Amino acid sequence: MTELIDQSHRDPKSRYLFPQPSLVDPHERIRLLGQLPGTVWLTGYSGSGKSTIAYGLEQRLTNTHQAVAVLDGDTIRMGLSSDLGFSLADRSENIRRVAEVAKLMNTAGLIVIVALISPLAADREHAKQIIGPDYYIEVFVDTPLEICRKRDPKGLYKQAQAGLIADFTGVSSPYEAPRHPDVRLCTSIYEPNLAIAALFHEVKTRLLDPVQTISEP
Ligand code: ADX
Repeated sequence: MTELIDQSHRDPKSRYLFPQPSLVDPHERIRLLGQLPGTVWLTGYSGSGKSTIAYGLEQRLTNTHQAVAVLDGDTIRMGLSSDLGFSLADRSENIRRVAEVAKLMNTAGLIVIVALISPLAADREHAKQIIGPDYYIEVFVDTPLEICRKRDPKGLYKQAQAGLIADFTGVSSPYEAPRHPDVRLCTSIYEPNLAIAALFHEVKTRLLDPVQTISEP
């Protein structure tokens, strides 16, 4: 006779879920890919240079044969988060989804580069907890709001100031700068290429060099 297992004490949403563990040892993935997995989380205003730095870093890492993926806000909002807007609640949900995807990709061994405004410290902290603090590298793309407004590469600040876009970060919606980011990139001082090079060096130190040390006889 089949034994009935009482699941009533479990969370109703996951009561009947039984995730099966992978048979692949994470160390085997590290050896295979020659890298530690991790998520480089870029936060900053619209127009701060997050996407330029994300794709530049992706290119540099690809050139050195690393397995890497970019999750960029504008792209994510065309697909995975196409049902979401820009209220703080919708932004939280967007960030939660991206963090969950980043975690899955990290589990597969990839280096993930996230480029999201992610304006609230609490949402970034939640993302860090989902991904796992050891795998989360917070990067503040520290371009002052005034410079982003002047750059206005997509013409959005102009439209937001004219009242044509609601809840626009830095105009009618808040941005909380990270207090203790792992990396801070002052893009108003450095050219994008210098910022990318500095971040590449940081990623190399954290995720690539330790693997060489592990693999040495
Ligand atoms: S987040 O706040 O949820 O992290 P996300 O990075 O995904 O934002 O999306 C930001 C992008 O959406 C911006 O680069 C911009 O092109 C576009 N956008 C459209 N409306 C807004 C808005 N109200 N505030 C900020 N960005 C907006």
